[in-house]
Amino acid sequence: MERIHTGIEELDSKIDGGYPLNRTMLVTGTTGSGKTIVGLHMISRGCLEGKKCMIIATEEPAEDILAQAESLGMDVRKYYENGSLIIDRVYEERTIHARNVLAYGIEEIDDLQSNLLGLLDRIPDDIDILLVDNIGVFTLNMSPNEFRAQFDSLIYGFGKKNLTSMVISDMASDDRTGGIAVYSVYGVIKTSVQDDPYTGVRQRFLEIIKIRNTRIPLDPLRFEINPNGIVFLKKEKT
Ligand SMILES: Nc1ncnc2c1ncn2[C@@H]1O[C@H](COP(=O)(O)OP(=O)(O)OP(=O)(O)O)[C@@H](O)[C@H]1O
Ligand SMILES: [Mg+2]
Repeated sequence: MERIHTGIEELDSKIDGGYPLNRTMLVTGTTGSGKTIVGLHMISRGCLEGKKCMIIATEEPAEDILAQAESLGMDVRKYYENGSLIIDRVYEERTIHARNVLAYGIEEIDDLQSNLLGLLDRIPDDIDILLVDNIGVFTLNMSPNEFRAQFDSLIYGFGKKNLTSMVISDMASDDRTGGIAVYSVYGVIKTSVQDDPYTGVRQRFLEIIKIRNTRIPLDPLRFEINPNGIVFLKKEKT
């Protein structure tokens, strides 16, 4: 099976060379645990290799994403400027919509909030690698059944478009939808921040929950975020 680099070298070697080509990975985890950074690594590496990349960002403006990437040594701005990286403006559209509701009292159904599948129409045909960060906003008014139906169709649509994709889902959205997103995707990564039970020190972990057709490490991987992004730490002596 062909793979694309995760952008985290040590991770590639732990999962048979990278994320499976033309499949969808789901990244889930608590707020601030590193989900977006996992995604940025994949995008930045893809750009570097001349792939056409896209980020659909529902929670933050393009400028913040570029600044975050830069703070981690990923120079994606130049790809954004030359058009080989597209950052979709769903976030801006959402905030404009919210302002219209406030100003004019429009109570129409917010298409952006109920039409997860509509994301497919926003993706140009020539995109190779896609990051959706994140799908939480689409699940606010959806039953788990409706979510499953739309999410399955979305993942199927990504495959039809020959995309290698990563979808980020926050924990609140997982709770609302009963955690069923994991069954629709090819692989699942979970990031977390936990207290060391002995020292009380906060530590970051990345766990590979599953990747079909791939050898995966079963233990959570402890990591740090430094100016080069995610770096795994040695196992502690026990
Ligand atoms: N340049 C940096 N150097 C060190 N740590 C950083 C740097 N940039 C971000 N971080 C750390 O990464 C964390 C955020 O990671 P990230 O944005 O990937 O989390 P997330 O799971 O996507 O969170 P959210 O729920 O906000 O989307 C921050 O809380 C911060 O501690
Ligand atoms: Mg994030």
